Amino acid sequence: MARRKIVAGNWKMNKTPSEAKALVEMLAPLVKNDDVDVVYCVPAVDITTVVEAVKGSNVAVGAENISDKDKGAFTGEISGAMLADAGVKYVIIGHSERREYYKEDDAFLNAKVKKAFEYGLIPILCCGESLEQRELGQTIDWVRLQLKSDLKDIPAEQAATMVIAYEPIWAIGTGKVATTEQAQEVCKAIRDLIAEIYDTDTAEKIRIQYGGSVKGASAPEIFAQPDIDGGLIGGAALTEDFGKIVNYNK
Ligand code: PGA
Repeated sequence: MARRKIVAGNWKMNKTPSEAKALVEMLAPLVKNDDVDVVYCVPAVDITTVVEAVKGSNVAVGAENISDKDKGAFTGEISGAMLADAGVKYVIIGHSERREYYKEDDAFLNAKVKKAFEYGLIPILCCGESLEQRELGQTIDWVRLQLKSDLKDIPAEQAATMVIAYEPIWAIGTGKVATTEQAQEVCKAIRDLIAEIYDTDTAEKIRIQYGGSVKGASAPEIFAQPDIDGGLIGGAALTEDFGKIVNYNK
């Protein structure tokens, strides 16, 4: 069975609730595509507004973070129960900005992946190398290391439903897209790793996105790669171009 493509916007720390509502309304006619799962991963304070605004449409809502804890005295944190009850379906875990600026390490991210599943949320788990690592030829070893730790003790049935986003750090927000060959090579290596950790059935089911400066103009070629099942989109997710990315096959 062919994997369904998934295109997710990562809004990062952009859009107030009223701006979020306006963006959803602007994008609504542009992001219809029956062949693709469309997700808006939005700031926590926008979730209620966006869930309401996408009601009855083909768009699902994701969060950008989740607590590794269930509830209690963790000031500033947001639990899986809160996200699920608010109508969230997906959650980004391990974005390079969180790894770098907030020092989230793989053991912590593994706990977050487990929490997401506990609350019925689908993780969009991010991985990717720095420019230095790429230049040293360490890309695939590094991504394998990240994912092995992040997926520790996650059963195959859960892994099969999740999304992995390969995002080379040097391509994020820089306008520098990985070549389709580079993106496909790493996404294939990720699928091979999943087959190694689990089995080929799980590897065939798991969806792997490319992220890093994807635009409407580059999406068709990138998404046509055999191991690339869509994209995680930052900058362009806040513009009309997101509609073009979602409709990459039209
Ligand atoms: P970008 O961001 O599309 O702006 O490069 C991608 C991401 O960080 O998910």
